Amino acid sequence: MQLWHEMEREGMEELIFCHDPRSGLKAVIAIHSTVLGPALGGCRCWTYASEEEAVRDAIKLAKGMTYKSAVSGLPYGGGKAVVWDVPAELVIQSGDASPDNNLNPRKGKQDVGPHTNIIKGKDTSDGLDKGLDKTSKNNLQACRRAETFRSLGRYLERLNGRYVTGLDLGTTAADMDQIRLETVHVTDTTGSLGAQDDFTAEMTAYGVYTGIVTSLRHQGIDALQGISVAVQGLGKVGYALCRYLHAAGARLIVADVVPERVQRALMQFSGAMSADPAHIHAADCKVFAPCALGGVLTPATVEELRCSIVAGAANNQLSHRELVVRGIQARGILYAPDYVLNAGGIISTAYELEGAGPDLIRQKVAGIAGTLSKVYAIAEQSAFSTADAADQLAEAVLQSGKPHA
Ligand code: NAI
Repeated sequence: MQLWHEMEREGMEELIFCHDPRSGLKAVIAIHSTVLGPALGGCRCWTYASEEEAVRDAIKLAKGMTYKSAVSGLPYGGGKAVVWDVPAELVIQSGDASPDNNLNPRKGKQDVGPHTNIIKGKDTSDGLDKGLDKTSKNNLQACRRAETFRSLGRYLERLNGRYVTGLDLGTTAADMDQIRLETVHVTDTTGSLGAQDDFTAEMTAYGVYTGIVTSLRHQGIDALQGISVAVQGLGKVGYALCRYLHAAGARLIVADVVPERVQRALMQFSGAMSADPAHIHAADCKVFAPCALGGVLTPATVEELRCSIVAGAANNQLSHRELVVRGIQARGILYAPDYVLNAGGIISTAYELEGAGPDLIRQKVAGIAGTLSKVYAIAEQSAFSTADAADQLAEAVLQSGKPHA
């Protein structure tokens, strides 16, 4: 991998490689941009197939955060920390393996995410735990994990606030607590709003709901009453989104690979119908809301869409950007760019950092309506796709050098 070439191509400011032989920490901190303020973005803890994959992931995620914060009017740049090569016994195992690999195994946030291959963790145990009973082994592992994140905290402290970390795939509030022992430049510690998984997902869902309403208005529809919305994925965000949509009178079509989640939705949301998870994108509906996986919009699935709006929470919805964008445009479907729509989580983190409580945060998340309207206006005026219009808006903000409220 030609690192400088990659940094130049992606417009990266800084890459910091961390190696602490004592704790075993191997991490890369990617600071994509601090033009608008300190780089903000979570800390991912994952097992990667190669060094290159870990670094590419960090770069891509950090850049995504820059764009997300810029369009959302936040005084923050984009960054990401990736803790890599964690011994197998320290990696949190996912109970909810998803092909998206963008879903947090336990408590954590999801933001712009890649399609990382999960590989089995390498066993790098040093034999110190030989002869220990299970409880002692667990305690030893917890201590090692704690030391790893505390060590990362020391690296972050040296950055003097240029990067603020938080939860992401594979990290927990307890990990953030360890980082907090060494630096204040961390969010989502125990007791914070950000550490409450449901709050973050709720804000993400509220942002998506707001975006769906805005998209319908853009097509001359003022109310959700009787409007059919197909929601793919009934996890934390998808389920909360269904609640908002149902309360507004929408007709729900739902799908999930976990049948119990579908049953729960059918029981709770009167009039809801279920669809085959593999084909829900082709449901006869007004709005298709992908809330499960990345890459659901492929050249093939775009041909099968029967909706007039795609607006959902899932990260990286476009599998082959140029092709898919062209297909969506050719079919006259309105696409709400994913990182504009699912910014509720980062907006929540940014305002909690400023001391805001839940009510003010919700108000700020509602601002996604204004951002999306701007994106649609740029797309119309310039004949750009909405995906390109969102990038253009973010880049214009970055060029101006100050956040646009
Ligand atoms: P989650 O893990 O709680 O829910 C995902 C749901 O999708 C699960 O119920 C799973 O069974 C289902 N699913 C998996 N494969 C499926 C398939 N092929 N068809 C239908 N359903 C399938 O995840 P969460 O937090 O609800 O996130 C959903 C999406 O939104 C993810 O792509 C995530 O990256 C993105 N996102 C989430 C944020 C958050 O605050 N939680 C923030 C920004 C983006």
